[in-house]
Amino acid sequence: MAQACRLGLLLALLLPVVGASMPGTVVRLNEAALSYVSEIGKAPLQRALQVTVPDFLDRSGERLRPTRIQILNVHVPHIHLKFIAGFGVRLSAAANFTFKVFRGPEHLELLLPVVLQADVHVAQGSIGTPVVSISTCFSLFDNAIVLDGSNSMAPALLVPLQQHINAVLRDKLCLSIASLVQDLNVHMGTVIGLTPVGPESQIRYSVVNVPNITNDYISLDLNAVLFLLGKPIVLPLDVTPFVLPEHVGTIGAMATVGLSQDLFDSALLLLQKAGALNLDITGQLKSDDNPLNTSMLGQLIPEVARQFPEPMPVVLKARLGATPVAMLRTNNATLRLQPFVEVLVPASNSAFQSLFSLDVVVTLSLQLSVSKVKLQATTSVLGDVQLTVASSNVGFIDTDQVHALVGTVFEKPLLDHLNALLGIGIGLPSVVNLQYVTPEVSVYEGYVVISGGLLYQR
Ligand SMILES: *[C@@H]1O[C@H](CO)[C@@H](O)[C@H](O)[C@H]1NC(C)=O
Ligand SMILES: *[C@@H]1O[C@H](CO)[C@@H](O)[C@H](O)[C@H]1NC(C)=O
Ligand SMILES: *[C@@H]1O[C@H](CO)[C@@H](O)[C@H](O)[C@H]1NC(C)=O
Ligand SMILES: *[C@@H]1O[C@H](CO)[C@@H](O)[C@H](O)[C@H]1NC(C)=O
Repeated sequence: MAQACRLGLLLALLLPVVGASMPGTVVRLNEAALSYVSEIGKAPLQRALQVTVPDFLDRSGERLRPTRIQILNVHVPHIHLKFIAGFGVRLSAAANFTFKVFRGPEHLELLLPVVLQADVHVAQGSIGTPVVSISTCFSLFDNAIVLDGSNSMAPALLVPLQQHINAVLRDKLCLSIASLVQDLNVHMGTVIGLTPVGPESQIRYSVVNVPNITNDYISLDLNAVLFLLGKPIVLPLDVTPFVLPEHVGTIGAMATVGLSQDLFDSALLLLQKAGALNLDITGQLKSDDNPLNTSMLGQLIPEVARQFPEPMPVVLKARLGATPVAMLRTNNATLRLQPFVEVLVPASNSAFQSLFSLDVVVTLSLQLSVSKVKLQATTSVLGDVQLTVASSNVGFIDTDQVHALVGTVFEKPLLDHLNALLGIGIGLPSVVNLQYVTPEVSVYEGYVVISGGLLYQR
């Protein structure tokens, strides 16, 4: 017990620190998202409202006569949802219940109009999920209308019958709505699920603040934790709190998602640590992919020609020492890589002989796009690949001459590699069965905004 307390205290001390060093993401759900929820929520609500009604005990005769009542149909033409600032969402709906009342050999059908209203509080759960709960709920009953079999029921009986139905529904309908909302919590819990980023790496989002709810939207602050081989990556950088400005994204979009610079930096750090950005360009004689060989290099570097009188294939190994830098400027996302490239010749017994090495700087433009629940990117080289000779085992090297040669050999495999890798995509905040549709990606100074529709599909 004491140990548990100490652990709790330790966690309480640790959490804010950990929280402060995680990259920020904001998910804003607008009124259009509520309209969509009311659309897709209609059928489940109608089902949930199909409660069982216990028998009505008719006390009008000499003996108690149990009367069976069954809900035939619940019709909810519209659900209306609206934000309640600082609190959550108000649900209101008008429903028509059709009952079948079994009276001996006869039966009659009743139509009962009901108005339902429930206030749903949206909060931050202890494990970083959004949590919803019903705070107030009530139903208002209109007078039942007898649809057919009207001759068979005395008006005197209709009154207590409706009282019985109202009393039952008053409790049961709100319980049904509460249980529907409870199911929603299970569903929203999947927001903290792990999704892939690249090979052996994953991302997990969690809600870090009390949701900010205005009359127009609900905004959730999420932090992302990135994992490599199951271990969280600790950022060496100072993470700045991320605030998504009010009027960004497409007007009328269901969701607006803001991704901070820190998120990009940490995703790149993750890919670097995973070694996913490293690249080997293998060499084969007379290959189209890598036309480099020693006889070609020997024309520029006499020492290569001297050491390799017979043509040998040349291998390039690119390693990323420095973490790549993503630069987010208005309408312009770029990525700067600084690989260290070794130029090698395969020697005997699977060893390599190093000819020389280069410090390379490549600036790539990033075209960002969203597919379902992933942010993907394709790259192209911006400007010139910069090269400087870092070391040489083959004497003097004329950088200009090597530049043309190595630059072209390097560029295509690098782009192929990066495009395949960034095509895997970073998982965006979502829940199970929910994806983004018609998303638009905009790049702003220091952050990226995705705005678009949502599609829920089981
Ligand atoms: C309920 O049924 C009545 C009678 O058919 C109709 O006038 C009313 O619009 C219906 N209300 C709803 C909410 O479906
Ligand atoms: C919620 O949003 C409003 C409107 O942008 C802002 O003024 C307020 O500071 C926000 N509150 C929190 C707790 O973020
Ligand atoms: C070496 O490279 C040059 C230029 O790509 C090519 O013309 C030549 O055929 C290559 N030699 C061998 C043996 O692959
Ligand atoms: C985008 O930014 C990069 C690097 O800052 C720059 O080289 C490039 O010209 C910019 N492109 C546009 C279209 O502004």
